Amino acid sequence: MIPQNDWPRLLLHWFDAHRRELPWRETHPRNPYHVWVSEIMLQQTRTETVKDYFCRWMEQFPTLQDLAQASEEQILRAWQGLGYYSRARNLHKAARQVMVEYGGTMPRDAKTLQSLPGIGAYTAGAIASMAFGQKVPAVDGNLLRVLARLYGVDQDITSTAGKRTLTGLAETSIPEDRPGDFNEAMMDLGANICIPKHPRCGQCPLIEQCRAYQEKRTEQLPVKRPKAPQKEFAAACGLMIREGKFLLHKRPAKGMLASMWEFPMVLEETEKEARQGLDELLQGKTGEVLWEHKHVFTHQIWTMKAYVLKEGIVPEGEYAFFSPEEWEQVPLAGPHAKLAAFLKKGVDSKERV
Ligand code: ADE
Repeated sequence: MIPQNDWPRLLLHWFDAHRRELPWRETHPRNPYHVWVSEIMLQQTRTETVKDYFCRWMEQFPTLQDLAQASEEQILRAWQGLGYYSRARNLHKAARQVMVEYGGTMPRDAKTLQSLPGIGAYTAGAIASMAFGQKVPAVDGNLLRVLARLYGVDQDITSTAGKRTLTGLAETSIPEDRPGDFNEAMMDLGANICIPKHPRCGQCPLIEQCRAYQEKRTEQLPVKRPKAPQKEFAAACGLMIREGKFLLHKRPAKGMLASMWEFPMVLEETEKEARQGLDELLQGKTGEVLWEHKHVFTHQIWTMKAYVLKEGIVPEGEYAFFSPEEWEQVPLAGPHAKLAAFLKKGVDSKERV
């Protein structure tokens, strides 16, 4: 019998029966490289999407050494569609660092892991606990939400003080013998039962222990400062075509969507300004709108329109013409990959007629 006040045991008992089957959970003991790649992919992306990317990634780069030896273009290409490409670049850099500084073996403790590019406290905790059995929490939104409800904490979970309180509660709750399972159980509970809106308390193994449930505050907790609104831009994209090839531009090596390819684009507050800016950039005249799309990033929203360009001159800088077959070989910036797919479909259907 598990004592009713030993909620971590109840949680693990539930996890043993209900754990999600996921490709990165398949190796026993857990492969640190698999844990690492999956955790990075999962940071901003839904589990369902990550499954396929993860499996393809492991076919292409089966070991940390394979990843370290790959080129940046190969890495970005494999990451295409997942977004937030600095994650892929850091993964690559860190793999090279592990080869050079640690002889190809991942460090085992959370502190050393955190010294690697792209590995913050959450990821270090996840790797150290799941792959190396270290007693450290993996503090993410799931864990913060579950603990805030379980203990009835009404501090803001996005504040430093709130995070400190909840991290402390996690640290004292991790069972010595199964730290990795504890962290993953918190994730699964947070993903399937203790969900942000309308938690499924009837299915929760911790219902008896939950302060928020007892006090009927599950809809009020956790307390969270509202997010800053996203900035909205009009994005004018130019379709300049020469002999069946389209002009693309390589974005700067720093900043948003760094080093990825895009159709020539101007971002402005209004559609009119964006269009004028594009006319100036390409020294041509934008014509018909061929494609429209609204792309929502975490901090920005782009309302995109792609215009056919009448005339125009290729600007100075990193510009080149690509056929649809050629652009499949380079990393395309997320929303531009959508435009590229739209154009490729059009090209293919013309070929068939
Ligand atoms: N989300 C982040 N890490 C995860 C993991 N290891 N399993 C399931 N979902 C996750």
